[in-house]
Parts: sequence; structure tokens; C-alpha cells
Amino acid sequence: MRSHYCGQINERHIDQTVTLCGWAHRRRDHGGVIFLDLRDREGLVQVVYDPAQHEVFTTAERVRSEYVLRVTGKVRRRPAGTVNPHMATGQIEILGTTLEILNRAETPPFMLDDDTVTEENRLRFRYLDLRRPSMQQNLKLRSAVARYFRHYLDEHGFLEIETPMLTRATPEGARDYLVPSRTHAGEFFALPQSPQLFKQLLMMAGMDRYYQIVRCFRDEDLRADRQPEFTQLDIETSFLEEEQIMTLMEGMIREVFAKVLEVPLHKPFPRMTYAHAMQRYGSDKPDLRIPLELVDLADVMREVEFKVFSGPAQDPQGRVAALRLPHGSELTRKEIDAYTAYVAVFGAKGLAYIKVNDVTQGRDGLQSPIVKNLSDTALTAIVARTAAQSGDLIFFGADKAKVVNEALGALRIKLGHDRKLVQQGWQPLWVVDFPMFDYDPIEKRHVALHHPFTAPKPEHVDLLESNPGACLSRAYDMVLNGTEIGGGSMRIFRPEQQAKVFQQLGISPAEAQDKFGFLLEALKYGCPPHGGIAFGLDRLVMLMVGAASIREVMAFPKTQTASCLLTHAPSPVAEKQLRELHIRLRQPTPGAEGKS
Ligand code: AMO
Ligand code: AMP
Repeated sequence: MRSHYCGQINERHIDQTVTLCGWAHRRRDHGGVIFLDLRDREGLVQVVYDPAQHEVFTTAERVRSEYVLRVTGKVRRRPAGTVNPHMATGQIEILGTTLEILNRAETPPFMLDDDTVTEENRLRFRYLDLRRPSMQQNLKLRSAVARYFRHYLDEHGFLEIETPMLTRATPEGARDYLVPSRTHAGEFFALPQSPQLFKQLLMMAGMDRYYQIVRCFRDEDLRADRQPEFTQLDIETSFLEEEQIMTLMEGMIREVFAKVLEVPLHKPFPRMTYAHAMQRYGSDKPDLRIPLELVDLADVMREVEFKVFSGPAQDPQGRVAALRLPHGSELTRKEIDAYTAYVAVFGAKGLAYIKVNDVTQGRDGLQSPIVKNLSDTALTAIVARTAAQSGDLIFFGADKAKVVNEALGALRIKLGHDRKLVQQGWQPLWVVDFPMFDYDPIEKRHVALHHPFTAPKPEHVDLLESNPGACLSRAYDMVLNGTEIGGGSMRIFRPEQQAKVFQQLGISPAEAQDKFGFLLEALKYGCPPHGGIAFGLDRLVMLMVGAASIREVMAFPKTQTASCLLTHAPSPVAEKQLRELHIRLRQPTPGAEGKS
């Protein structure tokens, strides 16, 4: 039906006759001449209809927005003064000789170049929203990323293998999406939160190197970088150590950036321990583009009169830290109050600060409601450790370490953006040496920081039982510009060690047998040492295109409340269907909301 894509016509085609198919982006009538901007996946081109060609001109007059057209015409250089340097095809236009209306369109609910459309309308009419050049660009880039991933992994001897979608729960820490079984009354499949156990079984099956671009399902609270179904590039290898896996994976990410964005990423990616990341950035996914760092002050605050600081300084689980903002003394009271409200969301009970008016004046050069409560020694240490200069402002966090890290970690990012301190470019890094366990104070037990199949560091195996909180794992995360784009680990490959870890996690032998019996059994029949990683494809592409949300790089994403506005899923089903599935719905009893 066509000879070219609209967006590909250029000066090389001048004097050629071309046939194009696409949508009427815009129609303008100018002094008797009709200009049609014809759009397809590859871009826009201007087609001109001359009233002298009466019949085709009359057809052009009937064209409305989003009509589907087939056009034949001759490519010509645009007359001087009408060249559009902002358009890829802006040097040329097509003198239309035929025009076929392949289909009409009703007036669309929004114009494609209207950027005030609500997200609700964008998702409800997603097929229209996806016609926008920016969305087409995003999905094309996503396709290219997947293509180069496959290419790289192919070249490195990986096999692409599919794993089941109807399966048992895998513990990645989120709620499962369940699917009722018709043939087994009262039983349910879980949609995979990841193919974790299957990929380990594939290593036990001798597949050696596996990958899959695979959908994962997690019923968790949604954010800008989280969706209930999302795509992982999932990878597992046998007989490689973490160093080799990390080098291989880094090579892959570097190649994708080079090929898709023509961006060279530095080599090798820096490595940072989890402990270091928390200490300096208050986060296990530090954004290294922001040149602000936390510094510890507990040792100098232990004896001060100010209880807000001395309390946490004396608490083994506490932390007292400072964050220096260069030129921050120009912040107004109102701005500081707004930051105080911002950190309160993370549980901070306040946000003490000192304005450094003149660093040479000692105590007299410092302006703050808390200065009177601090000794000269403490003030000197604060200025020295933060390397404060005149004109700076120093923020403080004092609380349980978790609260301080979350509050100052988030404040650091916010200040970076608000004060335009975020540096250009790409800052990838590996975060390593994660703890095996995190303590859940509500459930009063350890939970796996990565997942329960992650191996402890060989030199920490003894700590598994004696001091689980201090036991580090062989896990690694890849972080890019403050987003965790991938996470993986070396896996436990001996049944005794797996049993020990289950025990630490409070999973009884009976429960382990029930949930993971197949894995424990498989471990007995010759399991190779193995390890792997999974990348969040949506998150990576989101960063690569500079989008603010992963919904911008997914064709049909869900809303914040995990529904699809286009198909109206989820939806009620017929009573008959429920009966086949052995399901009776609970009717919410009036006055008992939340209890059923
Ligand atoms: P993890 O849970 O860290 O590891 O997931 C791997 C990567 O997937 C992305 N991701 C998400 N993206 C969008 N929406 C979500 N809800 C979401 N959740 C996670 C992140 C993350 O880094 N089986 C292990 C991997 C392994 O050990 O090999 C796993 O799933 O970018
Ligand atoms: P207060 O003595 O409670 O009035 O607090 C004095 C200053 O310390 C105020 O600026 C508070 O915002 C700040 N502040 C109070 N609690 C904390 C905390 N846990 N961490 C940091 N600053 C705090």
C-alpha cells in the first residue's frame, strides 16, 4: 500500500513519486491551498493539495483530524521561507496527486499535541495516546533495548527459556495475585512475582546460562516506578562468581547505552558497600549525581545537653547525622518549615538546622535555635566534619538510624532537585555487601533483605545463627541515577544451608517442605553453584527516555489503584463462572468495613 514511511522522506527523495499511509495530524487551508500533515510511526510529512486539481482537492476538503489516508504525490523542495527547521521532513513537502480516505474518525476526545490531557483520559483512550510521537518514540526505544539485550545475551551463550505464569507463590516480599483453579476445588495458582525458583531449577537442570524477558506480578502499593505487572530481564548463570556475573552484566548495560543512546558509561561501574551507601547517602540506591552527603555526629553529641541529639547519640540503634547545603543560608523560614514537613512523612520528629553566617566567628557566626544547647566542642566538630563555609546551612537528623536515613536520604534528593544541584549524565554503580536479614519489629522476626535463596558471604556463614543481624549476603544491586534498576545474588546451593536460612526467617521445616519442598529436593540431586540477577526493564527504559513514570514506557499500564481504564479490568464476573471456580463472594456486612 505504501512506498515509504512519512517520517523518512527527505531531500534525497526530491522529484520522486511516493505513496504514504497514515493519519491526518492536522489540516490547514491557506489561500485556497490545503496542507495536510500526514503522520505515521516514523513521523510527520506535509502534503499540499492544489485547487487546480479539482477532484482530489475536494476529497482533501473532507479530511478531518485522525482520518486514515493513503496519499500519492511528488516530493519537492519547500519554497524559500516555508522551510521548517524543527521538523525532520521540514525541507520538503509532497505535492499530492491522489488521496484516498481509508477510514474516517470521529472527533477525538483530545488533540494529540494537547499536553494538558489528564492521565485518566490518556489511559482510557490509550490507543489515541499511543499515537503521540513521544509515546511512539518511547515504545520504539523500549523495543530497541530489548533487542540489544537479546543480542548481547545470545552472543554470550545464554538460552531464552520460558517459565510458567500459573505457578506457586514465590517470596519476593509482595502480595500475590491469585488465580482460582477450576479443576482443583478451593485451590489457587499464584502469578509469579519473579521466575526466581524456576531459574534456579533451570541451573540444576544444567541449562548453564538462562535469560527471559518476563512479566512479573506483585500486588503492592504503586508508585511512579512501580506497576502491579512489570517486565524483568531475568538472568541466571552457573559456575560463575559474583565478580564475573557483575562484569558480564555491566558489559550488557554498557552495550545497550552505547547502541541505543550512543552514551559511553564509565568503566568499570563504581562499587559501594551497603553500609557505606547508608552512611553517606541514607539510601541503598544513592543518586550520585547529587553532590550532598550525610556525615555522622553521634560521637560528639553523646554528652551535649540537647536531649534531641544526645538521646539518639547514646542509643545503639540511633543515629545523629548532618547534611550540609552549600549556600543554604539564603533559605527562608517558610522554606525550612516546608522541608521540616517533608521529612515528617518519613517519621522525623523535627529538622534542626544551623545557618553558617560566618565560619570565622565561631559560635557567634552560627544562627540557629539550637546553638545555645550545643557545646563549643560540638559546634567546632559540626563545622569541621561538614566542611561548612560561610553562607551554608546544615540540617540535622537525630532518631533511630532507619528514620534518620530515610528522612535525610529523601531530603538530600529533594534539595538536589529544588536547588538545581543534580549533575547531568549517568551515574551507574553497584551496591554490594547487603545484610542477609532485616529485622521486622512488628512481626518480631528476621526477613530476607533480598530473598530467602540468597547465599551468605562465605566468611559470614558462622554468623547465620550466632549473629544474623551482622551476617552479610552475596547480593548486589545495580543502581542508576538513584533508581534500583537491577538486583541479584549468588544463591544457596546446599540443602543444609537453605534449611538454616529458612530457620532464621522463622520458616519451620514443615512450612519449608510445604512451600519449597521441590526446591529442597532438587538441591539434593547435584545443584551447581549458581547466581543471577533481574533488571527492571520498565524502570531502565523510563530512565533512558527521561520519563517521570514507568507508565510512559508501558503500552497499557494500570492506574495507581491497579485497574485498567481502557478495558475496565478488574471487573465482576458471572455467578456461573464463580460457581465453576468453587467461589462464593463475601458480601461486605454493613458497619464491618475492613473486618471481612
Ligand atoms: P527484585 O525484586 O529486586 O529481584 O526485582 C528486580 C528488579 O525488578 C524491578 N522491579 C519493578 N519494576 C516495576 N514495578 C515493580 N513493582 C517492580 N518490582 C521490582 C526493579 C528491580 O531491581 N528474583 C529477584 C532477582 C534475582 O535475585 O535474580 C528479583 O525479582 O528494577
Ligand atoms: P525542640 O527542642 O523540640 O523545639 O526542637 C528544636 C529543634 O530541633 C527544632 O528545629 C526541631 O525541628 C529540631 N528537632 C526536633 N526533633 C528532632 C529530631 N529528631 N531530629 C532532628 N531535629 C529535630
